[in-house]
Amino acid sequence: MKLELSLLLLCVLLCAGLASAQREKETGGANNGKETLLELLPSLRQQDAIAREWAREREHTILPALMRLHGVDAWVLSMREYNEDPAFWPLVSRTTTFAARRRTLKAFAFNKTSGNSEDAFVSRTFVDNTPQVWADFNSFLTQFDPSVLTINIDASGNNFADGLHAGEHELLVSQLPWLYWLRLRRVPILATQFIATRPDSMLPYFKKLMRVAHAIIREGFSTDVIIPGVTTTEDLSWFFRDRIQSLNLTTWFHPSVDIQRYDKAANTTRTLSGIIEVGDFIWTDFGVTFMGMNTDTQHVGYVLREHEADVPLGFKLGLTEHSNVIQDILLKEINLNRTGNEVLKITLDEMARRNISGTVYCHPIGDYGHSAGSLIGMTNLQDGVPVLGDLPIFPNMWYSIELQANVPIPEWGGGIVNFRQEEDVYIDSHGVARWVNGRQSKIHLIGNVDRVSGDSIPDLFDDAAFVNFEKKKMDKKVQMEKMIIQD
Ligand SMILES: *[C@@H]1O[C@H](CO)[C@@H](O)[C@H](O)[C@H]1NC(C)=O
Ligand SMILES: *[C@@H]1O[C@H](CO)[C@@H](O)[C@H](O)[C@H]1NC(C)=O
Ligand SMILES: *[C@@H]1O[C@H](CO)[C@@H](O)[C@H](O)[C@H]1NC(C)=O
Ligand SMILES: *[C@@H]1O[C@H](CO)[C@@H](O)[C@H](O)[C@H]1NC(C)=O
Ligand SMILES: *[C@@H]1O[C@H](CO)[C@@H](O)[C@H](O)[C@H]1NC(C)=O
Repeated sequence: MKLELSLLLLCVLLCAGLASAQREKETGGANNGKETLLELLPSLRQQDAIAREWAREREHTILPALMRLHGVDAWVLSMREYNEDPAFWPLVSRTTTFAARRRTLKAFAFNKTSGNSEDAFVSRTFVDNTPQVWADFNSFLTQFDPSVLTINIDASGNNFADGLHAGEHELLVSQLPWLYWLRLRRVPILATQFIATRPDSMLPYFKKLMRVAHAIIREGFSTDVIIPGVTTTEDLSWFFRDRIQSLNLTTWFHPSVDIQRYDKAANTTRTLSGIIEVGDFIWTDFGVTFMGMNTDTQHVGYVLREHEADVPLGFKLGLTEHSNVIQDILLKEINLNRTGNEVLKITLDEMARRNISGTVYCHPIGDYGHSAGSLIGMTNLQDGVPVLGDLPIFPNMWYSIELQANVPIPEWGGGIVNFRQEEDVYIDSHGVARWVNGRQSKIHLIGNVDRVSGDSIPDLFDDAAFVNFEKKKMDKKVQMEKMIIQD
């Protein structure tokens, strides 16, 4: 069964490869062997085939395992069009499913006479706009006779486990055989972990998407886009939005951009929006959405002054000795035996021990930008997050490692600058967290060194050209530094 699925997926991928090879032949290999966008991100039709496979794996492999883990005999999602349960979307391909139609019931149970075998799991979908839908569902219940029927209601504050709407709940109960009134249960961790758990086969696509997200930031944080004294933070936000649209991606939030700037006369550092000037420390919070996956990244950059070839040392150390260190602590301390609140406390204690000032607010990411699972702090909750922070870290989930460090910068009169960083990780089945596509450990430099003897920024998806470009930038930086020393 699983082999068949993998073969199908392999075929989808191979066929895509063959099709693009064919295209290259037809265009006389115009791409010079570069990875094109079409190869990086599949066509709509391929996306649908791949996403259906993911939905199948989640429904038929991940879900039965989680139902057994949490002792759930049967689970029902009941909803109407445009009023979907958050647990509905992992069960479908978003490329071709845009809403649950009419009244949709998704019912899952085990056939007790098949014991623990794989065929014991049964799933049914009932779609109708007449009372027949309840007759069908009740006949499903009679066939499998579950001792407990789980419904998605949660009044403790877990939004992902509360997808059964109030009116729908009333109707469902009124239609059930009375025997089942006593069997209804709430098991909030089931919907939560089901939404949180990522199939392994998604990861390669998430990695590609993250490369694209990082490449777009790299492009935005360059003099191709920023003209100091002219370009505003607002212009840069809209550049990011237009770039997302031009690549046929979407997003789940409007990108933020701001500036931290030192006023030497007043000896103060301020955070502001408006025209970007030389000497500014700039920041963005940027994410993209594709095939039902979301990314979330925060990077920082520095706009070089005339004759400056590098960011002042205080900023480099702010990143590598402060915010990068908080990231390292979090990656080390995240593990399956801990709740988000435990990871938060251990991380903040370790930061205090190392004299690093900052705050931590990591969230799960996946089907939703702020997705299901345990929170590791929130900006306003550094003593622990009620309910969501008490969930355990699950295996096979993705997190946005989000935080900020407060760093005094000697070059700015010792004033505090915020180093806000965010990068996504995947957590494997053993609970080990790894970066999806690395993390920022160098500040993006805007101006002087990012234009190399007339070269414009290379193609977004051509990694080799980017490496070459970065090398030229480094050479130019060294040359400039020599000149500055001679001055
Ligand atoms: C349950 O499984 C048994 C044995 O595999 C099968 O004979 C029976 O038809 C199944 N019951 C239902 C309701 O599907
Ligand atoms: C975006 O989609 C349009 C319409 O399908 C297509 O013509 C265009 O090439 C796509 N752009 C990219 C960058 O893939
Ligand atoms: C979790 O705890 C168990 C039992 O204490 C231990 O065997 C296991 O190694 C721990 N797992 C991790 C990821 O720390
Ligand atoms: C801790 O950090 C503060 C501010 O960054 C600094 O003034 C102080 O000297 C540091 N203390 C130690 C023990 O390193
Ligand atoms: C500038 O302000 C910082 C606090 O933000 C202070 O520590 C420092 O002494 C001030 N420097 C001058 C020259 O006033």
